[in-house]
Amino acid sequence: MYCTRKVTDDLIWVGADDRRLACFEGVYGVPDGVSYNSYLLLDEKTVLFDTVDKAVYETFFENLEQALGGRALDYLVISHMEPDHAATVEGLLLRHPETRILCNDKIKTMLGQFFRGLDLTDRIDLVKEGSVFSSGRHEFTFLMAPMVHWPEVMMSYDKTDKILFSADAFGTFGALNGRLFADECDFMADYLDEARRYYTNIVGKYGMQVQNVLKKAAGLDIALVCPLHGPVWRKDFGSFLEKYLLWSSYAPEEKSVMLAYASVYGHTENAANILAVKLCERGVRVRMYDTSVTPASYILSDAFRCSHLVFAATTYNNGVFVTMENLLHDIANHNLQGRKVAIMENGSWAPASGKLMREMLSGLKNTQFIGENITLRSSLAEDQLSQLDALADAIAADTQA
Ligand code: FEO
Repeated sequence: MYCTRKVTDDLIWVGADDRRLACFEGVYGVPDGVSYNSYLLLDEKTVLFDTVDKAVYETFFENLEQALGGRALDYLVISHMEPDHAATVEGLLLRHPETRILCNDKIKTMLGQFFRGLDLTDRIDLVKEGSVFSSGRHEFTFLMAPMVHWPEVMMSYDKTDKILFSADAFGTFGALNGRLFADECDFMADYLDEARRYYTNIVGKYGMQVQNVLKKAAGLDIALVCPLHGPVWRKDFGSFLEKYLLWSSYAPEEKSVMLAYASVYGHTENAANILAVKLCERGVRVRMYDTSVTPASYILSDAFRCSHLVFAATTYNNGVFVTMENLLHDIANHNLQGRKVAIMENGSWAPASGKLMREMLSGLKNTQFIGENITLRSSLAEDQLSQLDALADAIAADTQA
């Protein structure tokens, strides 16, 4: 049975939630599920904005056919070729031989790559930055949004009803669970952490490109934002936009500490715990993670949120313990910038992890290290408490400045 919702009088959400997906993109756990949004406009011409992941194709086609009510599907706008949105394009075009595609030339190339053998000759109308398209009452223009999140991405803007179809931008992990609009829940309480994890892990690397698109969008009068994942925005969008401005410029959301440790037998964890206590006693907010327990995507997300980062790890195979190494690679690959960083290492006979961790992070723009590495030999020695006090003092002074 179909399950659709009206976005406006003539725009219908025909997407679907997926609560069974274990790992989005094969990497990111999504315990709260994810939505794949697709929108159908019923104007003089009918226009579908993107399709969905193959996992939900049955629901999607039920929704689409019900919403079309027997009408032809005149146009499909493709914003992004990643298969979480485009896997169902081939099935759609086979069911609807009347449908023409509106897309840019990069999307056309990728259509050929993903759907080899599908003959799209004479079915594609290419658009580029600033192209105009009319479906009847509605007039659209198109904004290219390269690397938000792939190079072919584009957004569509409905000048008539002031709707921005924003592709992956302003999306979030987390199923919709019946709510279509962000104001049908407490977005900041219900979704913000997952929205941050989605942004930072999916497009966090491309802050400059996100900023470029935000500058373009700033010139538009926007009443509704329709992303490809998560709720539609019709109210209070500014609060979410502010987060995007921070994340894309790598500015922390707050002066606080993200403390991540990798500990095999608990001694590095013990020193991390003592440092956390000392920070809290000085009024510093701390969030701690065991890198062997919490997946890197959550820790990376919090590293974008916090101004100060502390990494504590044991030496392992003459390197950095594997879960910490993985996390630091992830942070470096996502281009995180402008953080204050402190390092603590452990090694019973040849401590090496501190130097290596510092090297992995030192290439990040505007990274400042606080003090020298603290070195544990198997466990924290009594006379090293003063080193933790000094580090806590330095971080407290910095966060409270
Ligand atoms: Fe939601 Fe980049 O795909």
